[in-house]
Amino acid sequence: MDFKKLIAHCKEYGFIFQSSEIYDGLAATYDYGPNGVELKNNIKKYWWMSMVQMHENIVGLDAAIFMHPKTWKASGHVDAFNDPMLDNKDSKKRYRADQLIEGYCEKIEAKNNKDVAKARKRFGDAFDEAQFRATNARVLDRQAKIDDILKRMNEHMRNGDMAGLGDMITELEIACPESGSRNWTEVRQFNLMFSTQLGNIAGEESKLYLRPETAQGIFVNFLNVQKSTRQKIPFGIAQIGKAFRNEIVARQFIFRMREFEQMEMQFFIQPGTQQKWYEYWKETRLNWHKALGTDSAKLRYHDHDNLAHYADAAVDIEFQFPFGFRELEGIHSRTDFDLSEHQKLSGKKLQYFDPEKQESYVPYVLETSIGCDRMFLAMISNALQEETVPDADGKDSTRIVMKLPPSLAPVKVAVLPLLKNKPELTSKARAIFKKLNLDFNCQYEEKDAIGRRYRRQDAIGTPYCITIDFDTLENDTVTIRDRDTLQQERIHINEIEQVVRERVDMKNLFSVVEEVA
Ligand code: GAP
Repeated sequence: MDFKKLIAHCKEYGFIFQSSEIYDGLAATYDYGPNGVELKNNIKKYWWMSMVQMHENIVGLDAAIFMHPKTWKASGHVDAFNDPMLDNKDSKKRYRADQLIEGYCEKIEAKNNKDVAKARKRFGDAFDEAQFRATNARVLDRQAKIDDILKRMNEHMRNGDMAGLGDMITELEIACPESGSRNWTEVRQFNLMFSTQLGNIAGEESKLYLRPETAQGIFVNFLNVQKSTRQKIPFGIAQIGKAFRNEIVARQFIFRMREFEQMEMQFFIQPGTQQKWYEYWKETRLNWHKALGTDSAKLRYHDHDNLAHYADAAVDIEFQFPFGFRELEGIHSRTDFDLSEHQKLSGKKLQYFDPEKQESYVPYVLETSIGCDRMFLAMISNALQEETVPDADGKDSTRIVMKLPPSLAPVKVAVLPLLKNKPELTSKARAIFKKLNLDFNCQYEEKDAIGRRYRRQDAIGTPYCITIDFDTLENDTVTIRDRDTLQQERIHINEIEQVVRERVDMKNLFSVVEEVA
């Protein structure tokens, strides 16, 4: 579905609102509405169950957002958590240098895609896209140009060469999208952490940062958790929580926010085993995504060109968002960087005594890190569809339907009396609703014709609608309508709870995780 339509749908149906909208909003900050919070909680539950509940050797943690300021010195965030930034002097807009250069390459890529589309039209079914891209001179020239630009840009990024990035922007004659001018400032490093002050101390000592990743709360608690749970290496600590980054270019709705939520897991391992665990978590995490029914063609790995300051290997799981393939989750081999740095700066030992090897060492760490909000956006963009289906009279009509996995859907079941002004129907429906409410998130709706109510439930992804009609009064049966197949079955009132439970249970996802593994 078109991205603008998706954003409008999220607002209209209570999934996501712009933060402080009545004051014209706050950039890159969003609030989750009644349906949004349910979907988000279900995503978090799916992650938590698969990480903590289903792994004997992974335990949970909920660390504070504020941490001792030295944490961020040790982790490298004070010195190295920067983006290369420049301002346009005419529009006064600020940009990330690498994103300007990537945008330039995307325009060249668009020309190639246009040529591919034209050729496909000309050759029809016989068209072989891979062969065309590998042989067409114009497409090859453009691709070589893109590769060269990205290679040079990545080199400058790796070396922290701001002047080199600035020179590239001049050489490629990149103009400000807003003012159209090339009147740029120099490229500078811009630290992405938000800071604030402690109330009772004066000066630098009082400076606090809002955590830019949840991971550090796990590192500093490594021994507390290990000792209190008597876990043996390899073991993991998982955490879900807010993180904050002063993103220069915050765009694409909830894809890049300044306040967002991460679901991170640090897996502590023996030094030297990182390659094995890197492969293991790469595969395990991809299977987790596939088990949600996401089309495999929409998911891919992308090795990092520029490694973060803490990593010796890193890969992204990318998802095909409406604006192209982008990072959804990162899997990072963080070596012993974080624990060793905390050890140095705190003066406290962060070592593990290995009973089998009879020696102490600083463990290595394999990290899986996914943004909950990005996962939400991936789920919505995968699920939201416009399709033509027969209406009650058998005529074609279009509907907007959110085909979420039932266990993630905000509302599991809607209870609908066929008519509003028949107390015998509404009182029966209310009684059923009241009972089901104890087990599932349900909705009771009696306003409007039944067809319109079905459409409203389709639009928020409700997998099952129970309709109470005149037969219900006769024989205690109801219809249960399936969101995706539109099939209606008649079942007894006493069966509703069990039938719905079987179909919306999160367990269904875990059996698929095992199948795809
Ligand atoms: N602890 C490692 C770490 O934070 P990262 O690649 O910077 O690694 C991990 O972030 C994940 O957090 C990303 O894959 C993405 O899903 C999410 N994320 C990062 N920045 C974000 C932002 N500004 N808005 C929303 N999600 C973000």
